[in-house]
Amino acid sequence: MSDVFVTRIWPGDAGDKLSGASLSVEVWQDYEAPNRDEMTGAVAGVRALITTIEDVVDAKTMDAAGATLKIIAQAGVGFDNIDLDAARSRGIWVTNAPGVLDECTADLAFALMMAVARRIPEAAAYVKEDQWSGWHPSLFAGAEFNGATVGVAGLGRIGMAFARRCEGFNMNVLYSARTPKDAADARGYSYRSLDELLTESDFVSLHVPLTTETRGLIGDRELSLMKSSAILVNTARGGVVNTEALMNALANQTIAGAGLDVTDPEPMRGDHPILKFSNVVVLPHVGSAGLQTRKNMYELAVNNVLLALAGDVPRHALVTP
Ligand code: DGY
Repeated sequence: MSDVFVTRIWPGDAGDKLSGASLSVEVWQDYEAPNRDEMTGAVAGVRALITTIEDVVDAKTMDAAGATLKIIAQAGVGFDNIDLDAARSRGIWVTNAPGVLDECTADLAFALMMAVARRIPEAAAYVKEDQWSGWHPSLFAGAEFNGATVGVAGLGRIGMAFARRCEGFNMNVLYSARTPKDAADARGYSYRSLDELLTESDFVSLHVPLTTETRGLIGDRELSLMKSSAILVNTARGGVVNTEALMNALANQTIAGAGLDVTDPEPMRGDHPILKFSNVVVLPHVGSAGLQTRKNMYELAVNNVLLALAGDVPRHALVTP
């Protein structure tokens, strides 16, 4: 039985700090996440868990760990895989790792928006498939950023980092959030309700967490508000968009395209009908997959484990026992 169970092999050497603090560590060696039985078996008696977005960390997992469990340190910003109430009632710290992945995720959101707008995957496949027979004025002509309006739904750290990139491309930025934000207004971004933002934007990028309120936030009605030339980008969580509704909107040309780094279902298998749309680019949830960012995410989780097990207060507590 080890002190710390880490559900994935992470890049970087942050894990050495755990052994340096005389903690025994078990790192799950498979590429695939531990399944339910493997997880409950592996956590028995541990004092700390370092988890990721696909690990189901609910009451059953916590009870399998038992009374020794002091902290669940999520090496990621999203935490919809963790039952916070179950942790609260058991007196377990829960922390996440915000901040370290904002710029990297914003890069990917912007790249995805560009990929769909300028049809980059399609155009690259066209060349590789040896279809390029010559220049033509309408060959892969797509949407442009200069002077376009981008709507950022959810203006947290990642939404803000994304919006800053849009400024550099001379786009007008609209944002929706619970309330207007001074920092956004100071940069010239205009506050809108979600409906207004959907109606007015040429590009819509989603940056809200997945909660009971945001599940299915973008459905038939919301998609019908969007311009027929608009492109939807989702790097938040797959469940924020109703996939059936999105497929209908694409089939009916209610919107012009979509870039998805997160999907529902996830993982999305190759036979999923949405992958047939040439105006959809789907990536395998790699928003934060910058090598340094991944090291930083793990390091933050490791540091939180060290703090909690030393009886100190970890950073970014979602649940304080
Ligand atoms: C997160 O951290 O929530 C991302 O979705 C995965 O890194």
